[in-house]
Amino acid sequence: MGLALARMLLTDAADVTIVGRSAARLTEARQSLPTTGRLHTIVADITQEDQVARLFGQCGALDHIVTTAADIEGAYRLLPELDMAAARRVVDSKFIGPLLLAKHGAPVLSRTGSITFTSGIAAYRPAARGSVVAAINGALASLACALAVELGPIRVNVVSPGWVDTPIWRFVAGDAKAATLDAMASKLPVGRVGRPDDIADAIRFLMRNGFVTGTVLHAEGGHRLV
Ligand SMILES: NC(=O)c1ccc[n+]([C@@H]2O[C@H](COP(=O)([O-])OP(=O)(O)OC[C@H]3O[C@@H](n4cnc5c(N)ncnc54)[C@H](OP(=O)(O)O)[C@@H]3O)[C@@H](O)[C@H]2O)c1
Repeated sequence: MGLALARMLLTDAADVTIVGRSAARLTEARQSLPTTGRLHTIVADITQEDQVARLFGQCGALDHIVTTAADIEGAYRLLPELDMAAARRVVDSKFIGPLLLAKHGAPVLSRTGSITFTSGIAAYRPAARGSVVAAINGALASLACALAVELGPIRVNVVSPGWVDTPIWRFVAGDAKAATLDAMASKLPVGRVGRPDDIADAIRFLMRNGFVTGTVLHAEGGHRLV
């Protein structure tokens, strides 16, 4: 989703910095994006406060911050099999990381700028094995509301994706990815699962619309209705 957003914003002629933990994966991402002098990459782990502080030191002034980071490996488990280290990685990557981005990023953000977090349908259609992800997705909505008040006029919102075909599914469904997504597609009112561009477009709306803050934008093909 982050890659799709970067591509969309570069096409819109924005300056874009993408961040991830692996230099090799960032190089791969760079090669897949339009070649442009407006694309920057920085290696950082958003769960580490010193790295987040350094990241914003390198970026300079910004208009928008978006996080789509998630580390959910090993976290989709029934409670008896739940590894607490995996649970903590979800909390760190999806909640503490976004909190650190807001803490260190707000001072360099434009007053007309925005912060967008990414939650997900697990909070609204919870299922067995998804308790940690569901809880963290729910918490992000409250965090955005509180920060919208504290950081205003900077706007703070959440995009909540439904099921989207991305690499993250290797941790959720393994080899059953295609069958699992196909089965969901047939149930959804829109008749398909999401594409990364669907979510990128929703995030771009939250970035651009100056009157939306403290909001969860559900981009999920009607998943909450079925
Ligand atoms: N795909 C879905 O069906 C779905 C549904 C609902 C919600 N969501 C949510 O949507 C968001 C985006 O998901 P996605 O499907 O695009 O996942 P993805 O393809 O796995 O991408 C996640 C990205 O996060 C980066 N990342 C993970 N931990 C990080 C950290 N500590 N610091 C910096 N970067 C980190 C990873 O890069 P590196 O590993 O290189 O660091 C990776 O590029 C996530 O919050 C996910 O929970 C997804």
